Amino acid sequence: MSILTDSVPESHANDLAFSKTLHDHEKSRNGLVSTILSKDKTAFETVVNNYLGYWVGKDSMTESEEEKEARKNNYTNMTNSYYNIATDFYEYGWGECFHFCRFASGENFYQAIARHEHYLAMQLNVRPDMKILDVGCGVGGPAREICQFTGAHVTGVNNNDYQISRAKKAAAKRGLGKSTDFVKGNFMAMPFEENSFDAVYAIEATCHAPVLDGVYSQVFRVLKPGGLFAFYEWCTTDKYDSNNPEHRRIIRGVEYADGIPELFPTHVALQALKNAGFEIELAQDLAVNDDPIPWYYPLEGNFKDAQTMSDYFTVFRMSRFGKFCTRSLVGCLETFGIAPNGSLQTQYVLETAAECLVEGGKLGIFTPMYLMVGRKPIDL
Ligand SMILES: C[S@@+](CC[C@H](N)C(=O)[O-])C[C@H]1O[C@@H](n2cnc3c(N)ncnc32)[C@H](O)[C@@H]1O
Repeated sequence: MSILTDSVPESHANDLAFSKTLHDHEKSRNGLVSTILSKDKTAFETVVNNYLGYWVGKDSMTESEEEKEARKNNYTNMTNSYYNIATDFYEYGWGECFHFCRFASGENFYQAIARHEHYLAMQLNVRPDMKILDVGCGVGGPAREICQFTGAHVTGVNNNDYQISRAKKAAAKRGLGKSTDFVKGNFMAMPFEENSFDAVYAIEATCHAPVLDGVYSQVFRVLKPGGLFAFYEWCTTDKYDSNNPEHRRIIRGVEYADGIPELFPTHVALQALKNAGFEIELAQDLAVNDDPIPWYYPLEGNFKDAQTMSDYFTVFRMSRFGKFCTRSLVGCLETFGIAPNGSLQTQYVLETAAECLVEGGKLGIFTPMYLMVGRKPIDL
């Protein structure tokens, strides 16, 4: 196990208490405004400042190794702070599944999102009698979809307590309480026995690990011999040049605005999977394709690629005018002391995320869908 895992004390009790104060899990909410208003103002401001403290004033070209290491050594605190402020904005802007996908002609946004999840389930050959693990499960959107699609039991593990509470509520509401389970835990030290799961998947989550070998080794441990691990990784590609200031600005923007300690190149991720002990069955960047519509089109607010009426609503929120509306509303609420301080800053962070992801996608220096499939050898 990595030294980073051992050196970060997991303080679940403190984390849970803070999350309950900040989000008040019991309060009912409906829409972005009522959700923002339900937050504890002091706790929200604290968590925004805490998150920004890891980044602001630190230039990617000049920052010291100590500053970089501080983010890696405190990865659980840094990433949890990020999701404590960003989760509600994600649900408002994107839905219950916090990931990208490919788009086929005529396919609406939510169908495309689901198809990306089904594709991963297909890589795992999921059968109804299997026990599956979703690593870094968000608010459980993909876990519920894969459970319904395959009939298998899906357990989600996630270090963010607020997201776990959202996942459990949504599963219960949809009658999936028995066929899903959501567990708070750090994927660098997973709270499961070895050989517990028939198959494991992860969707755009393991990029939050400070070192990839750490999380992949944990998956290896909890997966049964002969089982498959299939996942979409966020990576820089071979086109990324770390000496190019423009490339560096974009990738740094993705890290800063998405709560990622460090993005790794595809070849590093593949090597980390081998180092963990997996036999490689597939490694393919799905962002390199002939699709008529690029994966980042909704982030661009590009109405031209919207396929159905319902897509216009998703695209609108990401469009220049949509972002202006959200910013103005959130800004007014904050100015009049109705929304907590830091709400507007959160909106700015997420706008930076969208801009840098689109720039990275267009230049081909970044992929959110480096698909890897590894098998744990049957004879160890
Ligand atoms: C981009 S979201 C993806 C969520 C989900 N896979 C989906 O597609 O909806 C990344 C997720 O990884 C989780 N995560 C980040 N670091 C983690 C860690 N150290 N242990 C467990 N989960 C973590 C976050 O809390 C978040 O839920």
